[in-house]
Amino acid sequence: MTNIPQAIIDHYLERTPRSQALTTRARRVMPGGDTRTGTFYAPYPAYMVQGSGSTLTDLDGNQYLDLLNNFTSLVHGHAHPDLLRAAMGQLPNGTAYASPMAPQIELAELLCERVPSVDMVRFCNSGTEATMLSVRAARAFTGRSGIIKMHGAYHGSHDLAAATADPEADRGIPDGLRQNIYFATFNDLDSIETHLRANADKIAAILVEPVPNAGGLPIPKESYLQGLRALADRYDVLLIFDEVITLRLSEGGYQKIAGVTPDLTAMGKIIGGGFAVGAFGGKREIMQQFDPRNKEHITHSGTFNGHSVTMAAGLASVKNLDQAAIDRINTFGQILAKGFDDAFAEAGIAGQTTSVGSLVQVHWQKGEIGNMQDVARGFKNAGDLPYLMHLELMNRGVFAAARGEFNISTVLTEADVNRAINVFNDALHYLKPHVAEVNAKLLL
Ligand SMILES: Cc1ncc(COP(=O)(O)O)c(C=O)c1O
Repeated sequence: MTNIPQAIIDHYLERTPRSQALTTRARRVMPGGDTRTGTFYAPYPAYMVQGSGSTLTDLDGNQYLDLLNNFTSLVHGHAHPDLLRAAMGQLPNGTAYASPMAPQIELAELLCERVPSVDMVRFCNSGTEATMLSVRAARAFTGRSGIIKMHGAYHGSHDLAAATADPEADRGIPDGLRQNIYFATFNDLDSIETHLRANADKIAAILVEPVPNAGGLPIPKESYLQGLRALADRYDVLLIFDEVITLRLSEGGYQKIAGVTPDLTAMGKIIGGGFAVGAFGGKREIMQQFDPRNKEHITHSGTFNGHSVTMAAGLASVKNLDQAAIDRINTFGQILAKGFDDAFAEAGIAGQTTSVGSLVQVHWQKGEIGNMQDVARGFKNAGDLPYLMHLELMNRGVFAAARGEFNISTVLTEADVNRAINVFNDALHYLKPHVAEVNAKLLL
């Protein structure tokens, strides 16, 4: 009988010898051979060297349908002509000056117009900075240090974002910071109210991603986000939405869909037109704290904040992402999710997707997925299946995140989506004999 895991890995190795050679070289000077944990998968990630529309090409000339889009940021795919034109239009003028840069104004105006909670905005260089500065704004505004955040949530790589409830799992986080973090469970309002009842006078804000994408996409229950708003109001703490990813779900982000207006919103990814970006915005009185004319202002500097090329490309990206474009990618996301669900059923494997609009997550389990603990349990029971599936999808020309995360860009066609479903179906059937070895309960 074929050793399926070995066959998949061998095939991958055969297809990617140049990536392997470059990895060996890179590992001499960069730990693991790269500078991003999230892009790693064993035995080594393929080096992508060209992106065009929805197609990626690796160093060995293999082509892939890109269903990852640099973790959702390339909502218009690769090298989109409008975004290129905008970026190239800026380059001959030089890139950044130690002065305010005009291209950021129009993007700021557009975000203030579209996103319900955003009266004013400031730009930074990553979603990490966006959540970090939202938290700082909330702490300064309330004069308190505590932050409620959800178990298993991802908000970037600063200390507060990286801290988990298990000090063994995230070395390097100061104890003093841990004392100011109150962990709650997504979709469970009681777990938040318990902290607020006991410690509201120490808590500045509730930080939440309205649909936790990196958390495995549990979907917020009906009125959960409204419940968060009500609790924040009742206990007089601020509500911060991390919409670094979910901003793509409507012109005004997920807050517009849910009809819930947070006090502060962190943004990133799609607003940079493919370049490094972040932004945070919110109520005027909170954001005014950053006005340097104000004696008590919060310092927020950054050599590349509001970078002219990023802002020009970001404006083109946001303008092109109008509601019609969003509706189209959201529909494709739902077709993809249903196609994957049908594939699991047809292959007789207990799996499912969770999805919202253009975001899709694959789970190797049945049953309710209401929070990140549910997600983690499923992954644990699935052993090496998610990893092997990812590698097998790559062997068959589909690129997604190793953890089973998919998203749709505006340059994908319905034929692309159907192709991805067929490839997924074939890969599942191929993996099926191995599924029983990992966890026989996963066979229907
Ligand atoms: C919800 C969320 N917040 C923050 C971040 C951090 O953004 P960046 O990678 O730009 O620092 C991410 C990144 O994936 C994210 O998914």
